[in-house]
Amino acid sequence: MYFASFSLVTLGLLTLGLRGVAVSAQNNVKRHSRSTPLLTVFPGQGALPALEDIVNLNATNGTFLPVDNIQGDILSGMKKVSEIFYFFHINDALAFKSAMQSYIPNITSLATLVGDPSSQPLAFVNIAFSQSGLIKLGIHEDLGDAQFSEGQFADAAYLGDDISQWEAPFKGTNIHGVFLIGSNQSAYTAEYADDIPSIFGSSISQVYRIDAAARPGSEFGHEHTDFGFVDGLAQPAVAGFATTVYPGQTVVPPGIILCNRPGDNVSRPRWALDGTFMAFRKLQQKVPEFNQWTLDNAVQDRALNLTQQEGAALMAAA
Ligand SMILES: *[C@@H]1O[C@H](CO)[C@@H](O)[C@H](O)[C@H]1NC(C)=O
Ligand SMILES: *[C@@H]1O[C@H](CO)[C@@H](O)[C@H](O)[C@H]1NC(C)=O
Ligand SMILES: *[C@@H]1O[C@H](CO)[C@@H](O)[C@H](O)[C@H]1NC(C)=O
Ligand SMILES: *[C@@H]1O[C@H](CO)[C@@H](O)[C@H](O)[C@H]1NC(C)=O
Ligand SMILES: *[C@@H]1O[C@H](CO)[C@@H](O)[C@H](O)[C@H]1NC(C)=O
Ligand SMILES: *[C@@H]1O[C@H](CO)[C@@H](O)[C@H](O)[C@H]1NC(C)=O
Repeated sequence: MYFASFSLVTLGLLTLGLRGVAVSAQNNVKRHSRSTPLLTVFPGQGALPALEDIVNLNATNGTFLPVDNIQGDILSGMKKVSEIFYFFHINDALAFKSAMQSYIPNITSLATLVGDPSSQPLAFVNIAFSQSGLIKLGIHEDLGDAQFSEGQFADAAYLGDDISQWEAPFKGTNIHGVFLIGSNQSAYTAEYADDIPSIFGSSISQVYRIDAAARPGSEFGHEHTDFGFVDGLAQPAVAGFATTVYPGQTVVPPGIILCNRPGDNVSRPRWALDGTFMAFRKLQQKVPEFNQWTLDNAVQDRALNLTQQEGAALMAAA
């Protein structure tokens, strides 16, 4: 599925019918006095930048990102012990907008996720819409992304997918949106997901729900890609967010990720500012087979004098 996620102010505009009334985000949300951060930095991953450091980047480097306005999951990376994907269909657009308007303070910004743990909720909630979801909400403007407009089902052949292997709920364009709910603990993500039916009533129906979790025990911290590599190696350093640039990492302008920011050269509606696009894919991965293949095809280099294991690791990294 392809989704677009919008900034917190824009979400307010969407629910209010794009009339230009900004929401005051993060008000009247229950605060739970966390003692530990909601996000978990897994072994081997770089630390999250602190809020002060991101704010300082503006002063020192002139790259300002409005961290209050950006949904928290977009830039923070894979740092969730537990995450629920709650895919929904909108039955009644007006009732949904009305419920969403009061729910918006729960939509968690980047500022909250990198801020003081005592001000963080038990679980973060982010939200994104598919093209058919936007149309259902009465939004017909072109977001300037052909793949998003067509949807991933139309793109399946190009992606090399066998459509008979697609799970039924993802076929077609029935899914209008997704809640992404993450936390350091599955009891919290479950609580927030289980509350959605009572908060949104019959305005939406759950189409599909995936409860995902980091692997337990000694495997904790090695699951980020199923092949055992620490996740984030392929993550670019986004100017205005990254406070540390790791060896080999490319610094990219914010517009590579965020709509209508420097580096985004596509023409999009003004209200797309600070939103982004997301692809959701459910893949089966053959891990032992992959490991065997890298051994069989291990890089051999006389100058480096690699062992077969080292050569296999290099092949896998490539
Ligand atoms: C998750 O965070 C809460 C609140 O800070 C904390 O009490 C709890 O111990 C954490 N859970 C785990 C599994 O780390
Ligand atoms: C960015 O920093 C400059 C000073 O370097 C300051 O004048 C400006 O208000 C800052 N912008 C924001 C949005 O904080
Ligand atoms: C935010 O989510 C929590 C957990 O589902 C819920 O208890 C609370 O009522 C929600 N707040 C708003 C303002 O909707
Ligand atoms: C600092 O700003 C420049 C452009 O003004 C940009 O190219 C560079 O990537 C930024 N660096 C960081 C760490 O944000
Ligand atoms: C956007 O435009 C700038 C300036 O023309 C160019 O340097 C950059 O490569 C473009 N970025 C993309 C993603 O096309
Ligand atoms: C290459 O590796 C072998 C086995 O580890 C070692 O005995 C040998 O000294 C190494 N040769 C060079 C040139 O590093």
